[in-house]
Amino acid sequence: MSIKKIRIEWVLLVLLYSMIQVASAQPSLDDRVQSFLEKHQSEWNDWNIPMRDGQLLYDLIIEHNYTQALEIGTSTGHSTIWIAWALSKTGGKLVTIEIDKERHEQAVENLKKVGLDRFVDFRLADAHQLVKELKGPFDFVFSDADKSWYKQYFLDIAPKMEPGGCFTAHNIGMRMSGIREFLDTVSNHPEFETTIETDRSTGISISYKQPK
Ligand SMILES: C[S@@+](CC[C@H](N)C(=O)[O-])C[C@H]1O[C@@H](n2cnc3c(N)ncnc32)[C@H](O)[C@@H]1O
Repeated sequence: MSIKKIRIEWVLLVLLYSMIQVASAQPSLDDRVQSFLEKHQSEWNDWNIPMRDGQLLYDLIIEHNYTQALEIGTSTGHSTIWIAWALSKTGGKLVTIEIDKERHEQAVENLKKVGLDRFVDFRLADAHQLVKELKGPFDFVFSDADKSWYKQYFLDIAPKMEPGGCFTAHNIGMRMSGIREFLDTVSNHPEFETTIETDRSTGISISYKQPK
């Protein structure tokens, strides 16, 4: 073997070694998300979902391998992080809607910080209008904006959902105007099978669209 060939191989080896060193020094996406969630745990406020509800959304997406998600009510992005994190595993994408500019911008910043922004299409808009316009299809929906409109959100989205898809709604344990009407509608809808997680402080309804 010539000296020249040995030198080239040696240089290539050193290069490969350096690349491995750089790659292993970067925290993984999971590490980034976990440390961000832990660090900011006390900063999420009443508007944001509790951690365990985030875990529930994450588990639902992973379990059913959902890829086309919609969130109504981004706020500053706590639930968005959990949903986008799950979608980073399933190869999916999330559309999330927020009407308040400041919260929308904070959410974009938060998702950038954890490296999940590439899985999210952030919309600064009134969901009353935008939900009607979005074409779908969706296989996972999280409804967490104005409760008085829950029923209408569901009626607008239901036809755009895939069979087997899941429509979840937050705070259904709260005595707020619109919750009862939503629950009556979703529970009696012939195409959906609904369960209600009441062991949570806020309550979450989980409705699966049945195959035709
Ligand atoms: C309970 S917070 C959402 C919390 C968020 N899902 C989380 O866990 O981080 C409800 C959000 O819905 C937004 N919202 C209320 N009405 C809306 C509408 N018509 N269109 C879009 N967003 C709306 C509010 O501005 C608020 O930020």
